[in-house]
Amino acid sequence: MKKKIGIFGSTGSIGKSTLSIIAQNKKNFEVMFLSTNKNLKEISKQCKIFNPKFVIINDKENFLKFVRSNKKKIKVFNTYEGISSQKKKIDYTINAISGFHGLEPTLKIIPHTKTIAIANKESLICGWNLIKKAIDKYKTNFIPIDSEHFSIWSLLKGTSAEIDKIYITASGGPFLNISHEKLKNIKPQQAIKHPKWNMGKKISIDSATLINKVFELIEAKKIFNTEFRKLEIILHPESYVHAIVKFKNGITKILVHDTDMKIPIFNSIYQNSNNKIKTSQLDFSKLNNLKFQKVNKKLFPSIKILNFFKKIKNSLYETVLVSANDELVALFLNGKIGFLDITKNLIMIMNLKEFKKMKQRKPKNFEEIYKLNRYVRLKTYSLCVRSSRNA
Ligand SMILES: NC(=O)c1ccc[n+]([C@@H]2O[C@H](COP(=O)([O-])OP(=O)(O)OC[C@H]3O[C@@H](n4cnc5c(N)ncnc54)[C@H](OP(=O)(O)O)[C@@H]3O)[C@@H](O)[C@H]2O)c1
Repeated sequence: MKKKIGIFGSTGSIGKSTLSIIAQNKKNFEVMFLSTNKNLKEISKQCKIFNPKFVIINDKENFLKFVRSNKKKIKVFNTYEGISSQKKKIDYTINAISGFHGLEPTLKIIPHTKTIAIANKESLICGWNLIKKAIDKYKTNFIPIDSEHFSIWSLLKGTSAEIDKIYITASGGPFLNISHEKLKNIKPQQAIKHPKWNMGKKISIDSATLINKVFELIEAKKIFNTEFRKLEIILHPESYVHAIVKFKNGITKILVHDTDMKIPIFNSIYQNSNNKIKTSQLDFSKLNNLKFQKVNKKLFPSIKILNFFKKIKNSLYETVLVSANDELVALFLNGKIGFLDITKNLIMIMNLKEFKKMKQRKPKNFEEIYKLNRYVRLKTYSLCVRSSRNA
């Protein structure tokens, strides 16, 4: 029987990688839906190749454009409501949307999919308690797709041994060996050029500031239900090792794979089966030259943000972090603030008294998180654009 599959964010880097895996074995899949924010050219191309049952176009203007030019009468929605029209559960859905906007579709799809694979780390950070409640209620299988979390998830599978330490590896991004002085004049085009991974713009900027690793540590703490002190970020510029788990029984497991997101995606689609993916040979020259270093907090001050989260389990403060960062990255990409302003302003926003109070509040529902996201983004914009004009 064909595997029914849905992709949120099919026009992005993770979305396209997922489709390239499906394309290699097209007859075994039925694409239920694809989605984009505004990339009509790409989604139209994908519709021709994969013939989805429906598409979701979130940006209103582009949705209307698509409707006007929709000669093939493809079923199209502007919201996530179309998902609930499914009579049978989809087998596998991947959420590959970037930023906070991934949370709503994650929560909407869980009752209608057997497996939810989540690359969208922002939704896991802001709404994990809601996601966990829903996956338990609907017995939906959850797989993290971030390469580090997929690796930890794989290393923990089938063992009941107690964890001593989990190391999350970080490449260090494009500016690992650059002086602080030079960082002042970094342009978006330089910051999105990651030395090892080919990724979307938002996550590439997050990798350059290293806030991506702050996100990943918070994400790991939540999804693996572990203590903060058991998690550590370790720089590993070769990006060959994706996770190290040391157990209390003396065994340490290390997971190695090429820097290609198709590997975690492929394995999440073909769980426990014998399908093969083409990869390079085990690289002994890399294994013989593995280098691990501690994070330099002067070069990456974003790492200090972890201190804000040491005692927090699930709170609205995580939404403050993700929302302010989403806005600051957008401001940097639009040339409104400098590269160093991203982290400087993020720390300033996290220190605001009105937001620190959010540490005590557990998210009750999506609407509450959404409202806070809107408020934090507006506040960030007004404080940071004004201050950069005054500077
Ligand atoms: N890329 C990687 O290697 C990688 C690795 C680990 C984790 N992740 C995580 O995976 C997620 C996706 O990353 P990516 O690199 O694939 O991002 P990307 O290339 O920027 O693609 C993002 C996708 O989300 C859609 N989108 C953006 N804003 C949206 C909105 N407001 N509403 C609905 N859809 C929206 C985009 O549509 P348009 O095409 O119209 O913009 C696109 O399809 C992120 O959370 C990232 O942190 C990525």
